[in-house]
Amino acid sequence: MLKLIKRCPEYVRGYKEYCQEAYDNNVIYFRPTDPKLIDDEWFSRTKGFYDKKETGEIQPISFHFWAVDSEKFIGEFQLRTEFPPKVMTDIGSIGYAVRVSEQGKGYGTEILKQGLPIAKEYGMEKVLFTINDENAVSAHICEKLGGQLIDKIEAYNDAEGHHILRRYWVYL
Ligand SMILES: CC(C)(COP(=O)(O)OP(=O)(O)OC[C@H]1O[C@@H](n2cnc3c(N)ncnc32)[C@H](O)[C@@H]1OP(=O)(O)O)[C@@H](O)C(=O)NCCC(=O)NCCS
Repeated sequence: MLKLIKRCPEYVRGYKEYCQEAYDNNVIYFRPTDPKLIDDEWFSRTKGFYDKKETGEIQPISFHFWAVDSEKFIGEFQLRTEFPPKVMTDIGSIGYAVRVSEQGKGYGTEILKQGLPIAKEYGMEKVLFTINDENAVSAHICEKLGGQLIDKIEAYNDAEGHHILRRYWVYL
């Protein structure tokens, strides 16, 4: 059964495998940590950074969860609880991904089914999804969960280049 948990040392090895699969398969819609950076000290080295992301010392405020099924690392869920310009025009309220070898089994949908109530617990009434116009799978899942298309805007980042971004509200 899938669970969303806070980042923890026990799953670092699985997290690294997930990152490696993303880099090997050139996943561009959600770029995790470069697996080369993940060594034995990586968790303790980066803990302070992720803690600061939760307190607002680093914008945008964000909460990072890992998705695991028993011993297996499945994917991740990131939640940004405010709506600064970076969230509105680039990364959205939600970042999520499933490791390539586990895609197409319902895990992506399940991550959001468990993640959206967490957003509500953080006091959010709605979340913004920003989805590359060519990312049909993610758009399908977002619409399945009630996403209402607001508009499409032009966007740019290093991984995706110039692209069209769909923006959806999901009301909680
Ligand atoms: C998006 C992502 C998380 C989905 O994870 P997943 O575990 O494969 O998703 P699920 O198995 O729950 O659901 C896939 C859905 O897409 C549908 N689908 C598959 N191919 C499709 C296509 N070409 N067009 C539209 N829908 C498609 C499936 O039928 C399924 O829908 P259903 O449950 O209604 O039948 C995963 O593809 C991923 O990690 N992608 C890279 C990162 C990413 O894009 N993150 C989101 C950024 S906004």
